[in-house]
Amino acid sequence: MKHELKTSADRRRFVKNGLTAGAVMVGGALLAGGSPALAHSGEERSGRLKKGDAAILRFLAAAEILETDLWQQYNELGGIQDSEVPGGSGSAIYTGALANLDTDMAQYIHDNTEDELTHEVFINAFLASKGADTVNLDEFRTLPSSQATGAQQIGRLTNLMQLTVDTSWWTRYRSGSKNPDFGDSFDQAVPTLNKGQHPAIPRTDDDLAPTDHIQAIANTAGFHFGTIEQGGTSLYPSLAQRVTDVEVLRIVLSIGPTEAMHFQTWSDKAGNARALTDPTDPTLVFPDLNSPPLGGEEFQTNLIMPEPTVFLNRKLPACSIVRPTATEGAATGALKFLTDMGLFIGQSSAFFALMADLAEDADEARRGGR
Ligand SMILES: [Fe+2]
Ligand SMILES: [Fe+2]
Repeated sequence: MKHELKTSADRRRFVKNGLTAGAVMVGGALLAGGSPALAHSGEERSGRLKKGDAAILRFLAAAEILETDLWQQYNELGGIQDSEVPGGSGSAIYTGALANLDTDMAQYIHDNTEDELTHEVFINAFLASKGADTVNLDEFRTLPSSQATGAQQIGRLTNLMQLTVDTSWWTRYRSGSKNPDFGDSFDQAVPTLNKGQHPAIPRTDDDLAPTDHIQAIANTAGFHFGTIEQGGTSLYPSLAQRVTDVEVLRIVLSIGPTEAMHFQTWSDKAGNARALTDPTDPTLVFPDLNSPPLGGEEFQTNLIMPEPTVFLNRKLPACSIVRPTATEGAATGALKFLTDMGLFIGQSSAFFALMADLAEDADEARRGGR
């Protein structure tokens, strides 16, 4: 279907018409609080917010819902299951493999999961408080859970069992001369993780052995954590540049840096991923991160703060910054990044259409716009 939707206008019409056609089944569920008029007019309500601000917040709410869903899966098997983050009963062997990256991994997974849940709930509650439509993706909780002992058996929004993980953030944040906003590209820390499809959680209890196999799965998770959170670290400042209302700007500027706190934590832990070849899938190789082509002064694993690099103009002095932060197409770019990593393998065309619509609406927002 994708190729039939040539332009963004076509795709939007499809989504809106889809909402109208499926109003009873889908319309109300997708946009909770949406009136029947929503489905008929094909326009989300902004309430007392600027249209662009509401669209940016809705895209961020959707992103946070998706983040919560994936983190919840990690927490059920490898985190701490408690009243703050309920669900699942843990996998001792997977949790132990994660602990080889840091003995506090389970706590960090728990806390990251709780943070995403609060982001999702807060942004939607803020939208509702302003009379704007909120986002609810429950209709799309259709993907299977891990069959490993410890996971809940419920429908998921995201797929952590077939990931293609872009690990270029490892070199991007260590470069002192390149910036993706200048069109620069970056080498992968774990090239084989960026090819093929790899589980980041045990799919069944068969994945719990041999030792180096479950360690490869834990290492994959360790890099995926950083990949996800560097995405959030860039997404918030990228979208903030097109927010109009100061209170909405405050929300975006206050949540964004927590994503950076997550990212830096995971950046540190990924550096502890032990070099190994997955005995079950020998195409997956975790290299020694302190040896060539990595390693050396620029790439040593304890360099977890951003290396100052070019920003805005190559003639200006190097600056320690989040990168990328270009605002043009930031939401659609984030959606592509999540899609390309395989996070949505198995999702319906209606899911992709809705997400594309939310992203396009966010990317149409203009600072000072209506
Ligand atoms: Fe978040
Ligand atoms: Fe996050």
